[in-house]
Formats: sequence, structure tokens, C-alpha cells
Amino acid sequence: KQLNQQGINSDTVLYGVLGDPIRHSRSPIMIGRAFREMGINAAYAAFRVEPQDLSAAVQGIRALGLGGANVTIPHKIEVMRYLDEIDEGARVAGAVNTIVNKGGRLIGYNTDGIGYVRSLKNETGASLAGARVLMLGAGGAARGVAYALAREGVSRIYIANRTLERAVELADLIGEYTSAVGLRTADVGDIMREVDIVVNTTSVGMSPNVDETPLPAELLHNRLIVSDLIYNPQETRLLREAALAGATAHGGLGMFIYQGAYAFELWTGQPAPTDAMREVVLESFN
Ligand code: ATR
Repeated sequence: KQLNQQGINSDTVLYGVLGDPIRHSRSPIMIGRAFREMGINAAYAAFRVEPQDLSAAVQGIRALGLGGANVTIPHKIEVMRYLDEIDEGARVAGAVNTIVNKGGRLIGYNTDGIGYVRSLKNETGASLAGARVLMLGAGGAARGVAYALAREGVSRIYIANRTLERAVELADLIGEYTSAVGLRTADVGDIMREVDIVVNTTSVGMSPNVDETPLPAELLHNRLIVSDLIYNPQETRLLREAALAGATAHGGLGMFIYQGAYAFELWTGQPAPTDAMREVVLESFN
């Protein structure tokens, strides 16, 4: 593993990510690189926190005066109860991935959804206003992404899930922000022709199950943008088949970069050096 620690002195502001497991996390190298690039005296570490210690860990952010933290699996939902304030996007997403310590008040945000949207727009040039989206999956990741897409003015989100009940439940929640319809994944054939963007939020196709795909290849067509939140592997079977069908393929790495970029911006008030962040993350795959 690469080391990226910058010099630390008594002015250094500490940040970190709380999760379990956490050793695979690329956030320390990515955010550490961003701090260095911008000349900010801050450092970022990975903290393995087990569920029974989450409350104490969050109290530790206050006690030790950390500038903030990221939160990842399995704490994104549970952590909310220990914070002083929850931003609206995080409330709708039902999960927090970023904590800002504002003078001892801990505020929870969710930067995953807006990170996804920024990546989608930057990397595909997609225009989201009025677009019709098919979202595969109705879990935690889907919730934040659906909210962010709705805020961008997409005209309709079809939410397709293996379990219909969860799709309908999420459609009800998102229905407050845009037209949303829940359906069974098995029934997506009926709506494929009217869809502009497909986004996979399920874990189907994630390493090590790289031979799986959440959508039959014959349903793909060349007017689609097909997006996969998975970034390991960087090119999933879904994205390979999308490219073969002439569609625009969009992988999940950008979402990871930009969720970190938004967290960085919340913490520092400065624009994140996203090129440098992407570079160091790409290097970490080699
Ligand atoms: P996350 O927070 O990563 O979204 P989650 O809340 O557990 O995780 O949601 C996982 C999503 O992937 C769900 O939509 C789930 O479908 P179900 O609601 O039917 O369980 C979907 N998913 C996971 N494994 C799947 C599989 N093998 N086939 C189809 N869908 C799957």
C-alpha cells in the first residue's frame, strides 16, 4: 500500500472514515491527496469501528475535535441518531456518509447521490432535466441516488427491484419530488423504449461475481446512457454489454471520487482537486 501522510504538527486537523471492514477503503489516500494538493494542514485516517462502539466513536469526534468524518458500511443509518443535525438530502436518503464538526455540533450529510449526479453529468454530458430513468435496485444506495436525480429535474424514475414491495416503497418516498413508479425487475421490458438512462444500484456484477448482470443484454439499445454504481470491477458485464449495444457506458468510480469531493468541500469550503483525487485512486488499482 502507498503511504500518503503529509507532515503533521499541532495545528493539523484530523479527519477519518468510520466503518467495518475498513482496510480496503481508498478514502484515506484520496482525501489525503486532496489535502496535500490544496496545501491544507489536515490528515485523514481509517478507523475500524464496530457497531457497539459507534456512539463512543462519534462522541470521540467531538472530544478530540476532529474536523469531520466519513461514515461507511455498516454505520450509515445507525450514525444518524448520534448527530445534532441531519441535512435534508441525508434525511431523504435515510443515511449519512459525511459528518461535519461545526464547533462541536455534528451535522450529517449524504454526498453519495450528488456525487453520482456530478459524475454522470461530467463524464457523459447527460442532460438530466426531463430525462426518464430506470433505476435497478431499491436499497440504501438507490434511495440517495433517486433523490439526487429527482432534484436535478428528471421527469420520471422507474424503480425496478427483485422484491416489488421495496420498489413501491421507494417510489412512494421519491414521489414527493418527481414522478416515480415501482415495478418488478422481471417487468422492465415493457418500459425500456421510453427510458433515457439506466442506473444499476444493486450489487449484481460486483467482484467476485463479475459474470452476473442485473439486466438482460437484449433490452439494451443505443439511445441509452447506462450507469453502474459498482467500481470494482471498473467495467462490469452490464457496462460491457451496454457498450456493445451502442449505448454510453458510465462506471461507478466517478461517484466515489465526487462523493469524496463534496465531503472535502463541506469540510474545507474549497473546491476539491478532483483530477489529483482520481489519479491517486486509479493508481491504487494497479
Ligand atoms: P445498498 O445499501 O448497497 O443499496 P441494500 O440496501 O441491501 O444495499 O440493497 C441492495 C439492493 O440490491 C436491493 O435492491 C436488492 O434487491 P432486493 O430488495 O430484492 O433484495 C438488490 N440485490 C442484491 N442482490 C441481488 C440479486 N442477487 N439479484 C437481484 N437484486 C439484488
